[in-house]
Amino acid sequence: MTYHKANTLRGEVTIPGDKSISHRAVMFGSLAEGTTEITNFLQGADCLSTIDAFRKMGIEIENTAGKILVHGKGLHGLKAPASVLDMGNSGTTTRLISGILAGQPFESTLTGDASIQKRPMRRIMEPLSMMGAKIVSVNGNDCAPLHITGSSLHGIHYHSKVASAQVKSAVLLAGLYADGETLVTEPTLSRNHTEIMLRYFGADLHAEGTTACIAPGPRLEGRKIDVPGDISSAAYFIAAGLIVPGSEILIKNVGINPTRDGILRVAREMGGDITLLNENHDGEPTADLLVKHSLLHGVTIEGDIIPTLIDELPVINIMAACADGTTVIRDAAELKVKESNRIDVMVQYLSAMGCDITGTDDGMIIHGGKPLRAAKVNSHLDHRIAMSFAVASLVAEGETEIEGSDVVTISYPDFYKDLTRLCTR
Ligand code: S3P
Repeated sequence: MTYHKANTLRGEVTIPGDKSISHRAVMFGSLAEGTTEITNFLQGADCLSTIDAFRKMGIEIENTAGKILVHGKGLHGLKAPASVLDMGNSGTTTRLISGILAGQPFESTLTGDASIQKRPMRRIMEPLSMMGAKIVSVNGNDCAPLHITGSSLHGIHYHSKVASAQVKSAVLLAGLYADGETLVTEPTLSRNHTEIMLRYFGADLHAEGTTACIAPGPRLEGRKIDVPGDISSAAYFIAAGLIVPGSEILIKNVGINPTRDGILRVAREMGGDITLLNENHDGEPTADLLVKHSLLHGVTIEGDIIPTLIDELPVINIMAACADGTTVIRDAAELKVKESNRIDVMVQYLSAMGCDITGTDDGMIIHGGKPLRAAKVNSHLDHRIAMSFAVASLVAEGETEIEGSDVVTISYPDFYKDLTRLCTR
């Protein structure tokens, strides 16, 4: 796929459903009794991997006419899968499902694509083993494939070293099957969709500060879930609207949960003109975002805000490259263990585009404001890398080629179509 400089961006875009919330709706709906009806579900490859895994464990899931119907069978209704469960590219499916499988009365094996087979799984193997789970990395490298033998689990209080919603959620889900309360404390609060949605399904779950506590054995009941648009997908349009001169775009139905809204806080601190319209605070909060081209300046991004924008850092790099002055990103070592090593990959290709960027152990330093030029970029099979460089190409001189651009099907199958529709060239 090749991309060129845009004149301006104009018009409206409605963002597809949130990936994290779509995964959880299918998982919790499968463990609930009765039917869960999901609208605005993200039809991306990652969430389809979750549907596929639960179908293989005997859950009937209809995916038609703009909605998903999950016919859940209760906490103890899953059956042993006849074959290996394929997680595709999805870290969320792999880690959350491991927590569920740890407490089942059967054995299972999980695997995934080349990227999943390199992602660290010790972070969930450790707490789940402390709970009594039998979970082994088949190749002995702490990565998938994982073999899980369901066992009886004990409640624990786990102090996680990383602020990871996937780790927190795996432990809380295993806690549904434990013999007592399970608590997770994390260093800073990560996205809290599991806590909000499990409670909505009827779990006895309390969260205070950075600790969440769940009681075992609840009766979960099927619910209706309307998935808000994914702020992580909106981020590409926020960045594009801010950096392309003359732009003014309306980004509709975006989830603005405070554990996810760091991109809005940082973009505004950089000088970005973003207005929230039609705010709705029933359940997961949403708003429409009116974004206008702005002259951005560099900022320091570190500490507690990092988990609230971790997936947006690649495109924040692009904003920083276009901003005047220096942007420093710290405390973001997690970037190295995402779908690609996002520190190395961003440094490699933003440098190729003429940006002054240096990688550090836990982030990057960007001296912004130099004009960008087109380059040949490879997505490294990372959807967020492909979309970030599509945004960079809108302000770069020449023709940017993105190899492996199809990977956007993971989280935003219509991304290029939607972006192209807004561009005037
Ligand atoms: C996710 C949590 C985050 C995020 C990922 C989705 C989730 O990962 O990067 O895209 O749905 O729980 P970590 O928990 O590894 O930080």
